[in-house]
Amino acid sequence: MRGFDTRICALVACLLLASQASGYTMEQMCAQWSGTGYVGNPTNCRAWGYCQGQKLVGWGTCPDDYIFNSQKGICDYPYRTVCATSAVQTCTAATSPMYVADPSNCTQYGYCDGKGSISYGDCGVGGVYSASSRSCVWGPACPQSTICQFMLSDIYVGDPDNCGSWLSCNNGYGTPGTCGSGLTYNLVTGNCQKTNTCNGNTDSGSSNGQFTVGDTSSTICKDKTNGYEAAPALTGKSYRFVSDLTTCYGFYYCESATAVGVWNQCPTGTHFDPTIGKCVSPAAYACPYNRCGNVNSVFMTRLGTSCEGYTVCASGGIGSCPTKNPYYDEVYDICTATAPGFAICS
Ligand SMILES: *[C@@H]1O[C@H](CO)[C@@H](O)[C@H](O)[C@H]1NC(C)=O
Repeated sequence: MRGFDTRICALVACLLLASQASGYTMEQMCAQWSGTGYVGNPTNCRAWGYCQGQKLVGWGTCPDDYIFNSQKGICDYPYRTVCATSAVQTCTAATSPMYVADPSNCTQYGYCDGKGSISYGDCGVGGVYSASSRSCVWGPACPQSTICQFMLSDIYVGDPDNCGSWLSCNNGYGTPGTCGSGLTYNLVTGNCQKTNTCNGNTDSGSSNGQFTVGDTSSTICKDKTNGYEAAPALTGKSYRFVSDLTTCYGFYYCESATAVGVWNQCPTGTHFDPTIGKCVSPAAYACPYNRCGNVNSVFMTRLGTSCEGYTVCASGGIGSCPTKNPYYDEVYDICTATAPGFAICS
């Protein structure tokens, strides 16, 4: 790997080294894209989602041991497809030597020997691995960690950090761009336009995109009612986790009552329960925010209905079960005659 020795790094001690895999959920990806089609599931490289009208409307898993190729939107053979969520899995299937990004730690890279094994190399202080150039580069963020990582190649999407601007996705990388003076990118239509749709706050569908992993808040940990002091102590730990007070799946890590909170999110399919400081099944904690966030569900129970009502996640509409089977069981996604005993039903 030539190029590693010539890298320039180590000016200041490392800035915040982003060691996270892409911090975007499939819902967030769909919300930024005007198109219709597949996205990869950032928690499982065999799984995919399907976006339409800026919503996640479908999901599934590739057959057998195929890997989902997010950039092509197809299930493909493991020997020629990088598993973007596991370097070990990529190397297990690789039939010739190759370098891969380590999705759990951007300061190192993996080397697949082509016989099923992996070894790791280190980019050093201040260095991060760039899978596109297959080299260590100096930077505050992991080059792989963009919303484009699990999205099709050759599409334009809204920049989740910068409303009104776009990213051009190519091979899992996002190149930022703007529309030119006086124009704003409209992520619903995918066009640049004169009217600014970013005024105020958000338009429909983009409410999931307001946080990215690593966002900080200087006030959240200090908040007496919802911050560090109010959060449950974790056995043997001095840090605590507190709700972001906005989403069902986001939380802030608080090192102390005076620390700056750092945002992170629960694994797909779970919600954050601030009463225990853990990610749990959505049915186990009655989250007061949008319960459709971070779950691959078409319907979610509507709070305050004793589990008799549900929300249609794609549209935000509401519905209820037939009289004969009046209760909606969110876990099994069926209408039943007996009330499920979930926390969300009471
Ligand atoms: C990431 O990898 C580097 C180099 O191998 C290592 O020194 C560091 O401790 C790792 N960081 C984490 C969070 O595992």
